[in-house]
Amino acid sequence: MKIFLDTANLEEIKRGVEWGIVDGVTTNPTLISKEKAPFKERIKEICELVKGPVSAEVTALDWEGMVREAEELAKLDEHVVIKIPLTKDGVRAIKVLSEKGIKTNATLVFSPMQAVLAAKAGATYVSPFIGRVDDVSSDGLKMLEEIAVIFANYAFETEIIAASIRHPMHVVEAALMGVDIVTMPFAVLEKLFKHPLTDIGIERFMKDWEEYRKAIGEVK
Ligand code: G3P
Repeated sequence: MKIFLDTANLEEIKRGVEWGIVDGVTTNPTLISKEKAPFKERIKEICELVKGPVSAEVTALDWEGMVREAEELAKLDEHVVIKIPLTKDGVRAIKVLSEKGIKTNATLVFSPMQAVLAAKAGATYVSPFIGRVDDVSSDGLKMLEEIAVIFANYAFETEIIAASIRHPMHVVEAALMGVDIVTMPFAVLEKLFKHPLTDIGIERFMKDWEEYRKAIGEVK
């Protein structure tokens, strides 16, 4: 299971990379807008930190514009993956880009068949948005599971990135399904470390160690 950070914040990415568990980064126009940094510069900075796939999204809505933007973004770094929204123009752009050998990540995917269309067009990755499906009183994890089953049925090579992750149980469920990648906000990644019994265990070990050192006369 690969872990991607869903952020354009350099401090968060640095910390995740230092822990040695971050395999890539996904961004989108909203995440970039929070940083108030020049888009292309920020993508290059992220690529310097993470030696793995970094998704950068196009903002054109027509396929020719998407392809043009994608070609520019792909020049920034060998790790750049072009995020393309799942529209008719998006699927057409994915097909053109896949034939040119440019990696793509089909985004704003909310149904199994949208995911299939992306895979058929040759998308490198497909990003179903779990949390946003939950937000409209539907079942994001069920959608994810259906995509995983369909992709396995037809041996699609497109990798699934579980996206719009809101809490650790989304990550656990995606992992149980064998989904290739989970991209998550830094706050969710931090939560994955936490267990109250780990904190209690450390506290008890430290207390016992201090008592032992006193008992053997190492400290007073
Ligand atoms: O990468 C895009 C996706 O993860 C967005 O998440 O929380 O804005 O629904 P969210």
